[in-house]
Amino acid sequence: MSDPQERGAWSSKIGFILAGAGSAVGLGAIWRFPYYTGENGGAIFTLAFLICCFFIGYPVMIAELTLGRNTQKNPVGMFKKLAKGGGWKWLGGLCILSGFTIFAWYSIIAGWVVGYLYKTAIGTFSEVRDANMISSMFDQFSASGVTVSSLHALIILMTAFVVYRGVKSGIELLSKLLMPLLFLLLILLAIRSITLEGAADGLKFYLYPDFSKVSGMMILKAMGQALFSLSLGMGTMITYGSYLSKKENIPVSAAWITFFELLVCILAGLVIMPAVSAMGQSYTEGPDLIFKVLPSIFGQMPGGYYFGVGFFVLVIIAALTSTVSILEVPVAYFVDEKHWSRKKAVIFVGFIAYLIGTPAALAHGASDFWSNLAGIKGGFFTIISTVFGDISLSIGAFFIAIFVGWLWGVEKATTEIKSEENGITVSEFPIKKYWSFLIKFVAPVTIAIVFGYTMWKTFIGL
Ligand code: PFF
Repeated sequence: MSDPQERGAWSSKIGFILAGAGSAVGLGAIWRFPYYTGENGGAIFTLAFLICCFFIGYPVMIAELTLGRNTQKNPVGMFKKLAKGGGWKWLGGLCILSGFTIFAWYSIIAGWVVGYLYKTAIGTFSEVRDANMISSMFDQFSASGVTVSSLHALIILMTAFVVYRGVKSGIELLSKLLMPLLFLLLILLAIRSITLEGAADGLKFYLYPDFSKVSGMMILKAMGQALFSLSLGMGTMITYGSYLSKKENIPVSAAWITFFELLVCILAGLVIMPAVSAMGQSYTEGPDLIFKVLPSIFGQMPGGYYFGVGFFVLVIIAALTSTVSILEVPVAYFVDEKHWSRKKAVIFVGFIAYLIGTPAALAHGASDFWSNLAGIKGGFFTIISTVFGDISLSIGAFFIAIFVGWLWGVEKATTEIKSEENGITVSEFPIKKYWSFLIKFVAPVTIAIVFGYTMWKTFIGL
């Protein structure tokens, strides 16, 4: 048993919901959702994403929180405790590996945001009105290896500091401060963006589904994005659930977390898509998208300088409440399973993540080799973020659904969800039937079909 002092716990219900929402709401909603939407056909992608959130994301989130609370463990410890046979331990291992790698590349983007906060604060964009110029300023910035690597290191250090301070004082506190402000700012920015001249095209792209854009890859990306933005498939919610008290109502908490996340995604799309058309930029710009569009929005609103600075500060905090939840997974593993101190685990994981992330940080122009690896745009970055960001999460979510639906079983899960002891129910679970159906059939079958079909098309052709 690990020392409870090393594990920690949430101090209140709202603290947990905010921390869970803090994990979910981050760059996934503000940076990744808009650019995936742009690359994958607009409204049709958003529709597929929403469907995946309701029918796969939400039930898997309930499953992960339940597994975590029942075992009070990290993913590896959880499978060791509940599963017979060593195979499941490997799935736990995949979760830990995803934690390392997602932390590695996610903190690069968070570093870009810090760079953009600095640039905005010193007035770099104040005088520039030309959208193409703003766009090439980003290309220059992301190609500067020293700057992006240093910012990458900075984010890793900041995250390590929060995770080192422990669950209650660090993660909860950050989350509590952030949410209301972020919503408010996004709403104001969305209003500005929608009322820009030339915004109509972007709105149409974002709101009217074009069914000719449906493809296996598009649905796989929507599914990956749903899991990513809800922090599922790599045991974050298992780990967060392990700090959760028996009094909390898991389905209700999960619903709130999902709701907050979707709201931020939809708002972020409303900020970015109309602005893309208004600025004459391309929807398929990829990971650079928001950095090439946002400075122009700020440039065209009264008090834009302050909005810009405020926005980037909030996005950094949103990113940090997510990076801490990602880092927490491998750290909890080393604390629980290897009996390391929190400090040692944090330093080790942070260091390895920096090493793994470095070639990805250089894959935006700083190094030709890493930028064009395997002939793919964005090279190593694109590869690592697709493999550990879409694919690994889909595999994780698939097996978690199978495990809870068929092996551990929905009855045991229900007992945990209701916190039933000696016939006394703490939390009602009115959606049990609906959830059982989703977790046993809909989630795993959909993931298997989408994943199998897309892999087949990509690697075997036809
Ligand atoms: N959900 C986070 C975001 O959207 O920014 C990212 C994330 C956190 C992914 C935790 C996966 C995870 F386990």
